Amino acid sequence: VDDVTGSATLAADEAVRRRRAAGEPVLPLAFGQAGVPVHPALRAALAAAADRNGYGPIAGTDELRQAAAGYWTRRGVATEPDAVLAGPGSKALLYVALQAIGGDVVVPRPSWVSYAAQATLLGTAPVFVPTPPGEGGVPDPDLLTDAVRRARAAGRTVGAVVLTLPDNPTGRLASPAAVRAVCAAARELDLVIISDEIYRDLVYDAPFVSPAEVAPERVVTTSGLSKSLGLGGWRIGVARLPDGPTGAWLRERMVTAASEIWSSAAQPVQHAAAYAFTEPAELTDHVAAARAMYARLSNAVAERFAAAGAVVPTPQAAFYVYPDFAPLAPSTVHSGADLAAVLSEHGVATLPASAFGEPAEALRLRVCTGMLSGDTDDQREAALRATDPLRLPWIADAVSQLEAALAKVIP
Ligand SMILES: Cc1ncc(COP(=O)(O)O)c(C=O)c1O
Repeated sequence: VDDVTGSATLAADEAVRRRRAAGEPVLPLAFGQAGVPVHPALRAALAAAADRNGYGPIAGTDELRQAAAGYWTRRGVATEPDAVLAGPGSKALLYVALQAIGGDVVVPRPSWVSYAAQATLLGTAPVFVPTPPGEGGVPDPDLLTDAVRRARAAGRTVGAVVLTLPDNPTGRLASPAAVRAVCAAARELDLVIISDEIYRDLVYDAPFVSPAEVAPERVVTTSGLSKSLGLGGWRIGVARLPDGPTGAWLRERMVTAASEIWSSAAQPVQHAAAYAFTEPAELTDHVAAARAMYARLSNAVAERFAAAGAVVPTPQAAFYVYPDFAPLAPSTVHSGADLAAVLSEHGVATLPASAFGEPAEALRLRVCTGMLSGDTDDQREAALRATDPLRLPWIADAVSQLEAALAKVIP
């Protein structure tokens, strides 16, 4: 535990909150928070279930597991309710999945802060494998094979590889060919694949192939409502376990761990989540509006960073932009953390790539555009409904503040 510093993104959020509370106009581009209000139908579903105060089944209610099974089946991955496990957020499910699988875990470099930290908490080690430049979420299959063979030759047990589709921090989606290649490598190495698909419904316009379609016998898929419907604070996630014996074995181990850690996810939230996973039109419209808004905001932010001289892979999903300032080196700034600190002094909070497993000297930043939609639910609702959110005054001001800060930092 001493090796784990605590989630960099949650810490960044708290620091930004303190500065804003003290009256500093800090642009909150560090924390991976969705920027949409709760849909009224979800609020009503949650309220309607307020009297459900029993614990309920460990794996989740039948209602929720059936709805989540339908969600995956509609996406081409036939799923039985028994293959679904619900929990208080997909983060908790990832942790019990890693624990159940056992051994060290391969994580992409860069990747979301918590995979490596969770592996360390479990007393295992993350094996970082780079993703191809400009891509994200899926490690290079040859480098993966090499790294696993070397780790095994050194006496380590490697049990799993985590993929993020689409990816945080890069905002990119691995191509179907990259997904197939990494699945083939994982099969060859007999690794369980954990496919984190929490941002799946926020892909702007790119073909999505899930590893669960390619290697259903070895893929644990995780998802939830924190991002697509902006319900991070409701703490609800779902996992789809692999088909066949691996799924049965993992289910038993994960349900046992869940019974000892969280007992069951909150019943009223499960009821609302079951409604969400049936995907009524009012909610799919809400997700579609959010997707379009994030696409507009992320592309605008990417353009501002590119204009300042950074190399910026075009965002393909969710609310992340990953500019690389390497073309501007050498400069007075020698690490991603220095770069983030200078930008922060100029009122723009971001996170350095080192928070995502990259080397300290990488001059890359993870920029989150989710909270640009506004500070209040009224603003966020207006941003969601706007034909062009960039024309709303608070968003236009935020983008100008970013431009001004970049002009000062990179004259
Ligand atoms: C890649 C990734 N996976 C999982 C999560 C956590 O999701 P949940 O709210 O379902 O625990 C996040 C949230 O930041 C994330 O970025």
